[in-house]
Amino acid sequence: MYESFDELPDVEKKLLNDAKAVARNAYAPYSEFQVGAAVLMENGKVVTGTNQENAAYPSGLCAERVAVFAASSQNPGVAIKALALTAHYSKTIVDAPVTPCGACRQVIAEYEHLFKSPIKLILSGETGKIIVFDSVEPLLPFSFTSDELK
Ligand code: THU
Repeated sequence: MYESFDELPDVEKKLLNDAKAVARNAYAPYSEFQVGAAVLMENGKVVTGTNQENAAYPSGLCAERVAVFAASSQNPGVAIKALALTAHYSKTIVDAPVTPCGACRQVIAEYEHLFKSPIKLILSGETGKIIVFDSVEPLLPFSFTSDELK
């Protein structure tokens, strides 16, 4: 747990800045909650994503899955090392860290399991504390994996 952005190590700061830079690109006309995600790959590439909503509400997708699926599509076979997350809300200042929804946790867990490599999560709001998890595992214990499908 970090009290503010300034306390973050440089690598985390940079990735979070990438997430902050794209949050306003979100297509979120219904919730007006604009989420930015930035994924750091093992090859050093950074792939960003934002939430994309839809008039048929369930057809939309969270920023994390947009970013992770794009990262995997553009860099197949490359492990994901970290994911930074932030949000902007039209109605109030987001002063607590944004945390991935259950479906996004499951998707992140898939790539941890695939590459046997933990994904660091850097969770932030616009202001306030920032939480860093070294893996998605504590956010989704006993997750369903491909081991069950053998
Ligand atoms: N959302 C994300 O993109 N990521 C999260 O971690 C939380 C929620 C999006 C989904 C929806 O477009 C909007 O935020 C409000 O739920």
